[in-house]
Amino acid sequence: MSNAVWHVTGARPNFPKAAPVVAALNERGISQGLVHTGQHYDDNMSTVFFEQLKLPRPDINLGVGSGSHAQQTATIMTGLEELFLKEQPKLVVVYGDVNSTVAAALVASKLHIPVAHVEAGLRSFDMTMPEEVNRIVTDRLSNLLLATSPDAIAHLAHEGVAADRIHLVGNPMIDTLLSFVKDSGEAPHVEGFEIPDGPFAVATLHRPANVDDPGDLNVLKDALHATADQLPVVMPVHPRGKARMTEIGLFDHDNMHAVEPLGYLEFLGLVRRSALVVTDSGGIQEETTVLGVPCLTLRPNTERPVTITHGTNQLVTAPALAGIVKETLAAGRPTTWKVPPLWDGQAGPRIAEVIDNFLAAQG
Ligand code: UD1
Repeated sequence: MSNAVWHVTGARPNFPKAAPVVAALNERGISQGLVHTGQHYDDNMSTVFFEQLKLPRPDINLGVGSGSHAQQTATIMTGLEELFLKEQPKLVVVYGDVNSTVAAALVASKLHIPVAHVEAGLRSFDMTMPEEVNRIVTDRLSNLLLATSPDAIAHLAHEGVAADRIHLVGNPMIDTLLSFVKDSGEAPHVEGFEIPDGPFAVATLHRPANVDDPGDLNVLKDALHATADQLPVVMPVHPRGKARMTEIGLFDHDNMHAVEPLGYLEFLGLVRRSALVVTDSGGIQEETTVLGVPCLTLRPNTERPVTITHGTNQLVTAPALAGIVKETLAAGRPTTWKVPPLWDGQAGPRIAEVIDNFLAAQG
């Protein structure tokens, strides 16, 4: 008998979202298959996450690799069409906002296979972000819209999605964080960076809007160097933009420590210990919110406003960064903080219940 549910993952942020959903569906005895599209393929962007998060080995890896948006999305679609025609899933589950997500939603819906979108309804209202296009298209095609925060529900309602298709389930990435935070160690081993006794910052940058244009990157370099004048900065470098960052001398400062992309546990361990994080990632805004670590997001907008209203996040411009770092260090890490509703480690079981009910209603 073929698997009822097929999960489609492909890029690094998908893996911590899928792990608790796969585990909770397993508990319910629902048969499932796992696709890795191969959008991310380096061991430290992919394999290490499967091992550390105890995700089952993918049933199939499409091995699509890198390419332009059209090439990558089209190659994923071609591979998934063949798979779905053969496997005839009852439901396809997609995660987040990467190219693998929208590719799977497009293929499934054209084959009349229902789609469940985990992390539905987030909106940056910035159509220059590829992720915003992916979110809107995926949500439009999804039958089950599984939302992490109340603002997402409001966006979907505003876009005319029927209320019975929308479910506030909490944040499965936080399930993963809460279940692994103890394993992340007091002082994880990070090749190329000795964790100091005093405060240090973690920085990550990978968004096209920040790293693709050498002019913008130069402004960020000045901001990061002015930060590194104040405390050591460790920067696990995403392959996107690495060459450009090296070329413009972003790492040429005694207090800037460029390291390879880290495994899930090592990164979590580092963030937990840090005084503050500087980032343009979406997921890290959420993780710092739960860990109570100040997060300075180098973007003009966020699709995750709950991390500002409830959490430790603030949007900053590059010229303002060093001043805000100074204030943040003076204030110290918060001793109490709120977390958004339902970010409680139980999102996976809630999602599994919604899926189970959906499958039962399909007969
Ligand atoms: C993708 C997602 C982004 C997410 C990010 C997390 C899309 C549109 N973007 O961006 O939303 O925040 O993942 O990491 O889906 N590369 C490697 N090794 C790898 C993977 C990528 O060297 O294992 C390099 C290649 O040069 C590639 C570039 O990184 O061209 C970009 O990879 P891609 O998957 O297209 O987008 P990301 O920037 O990783």
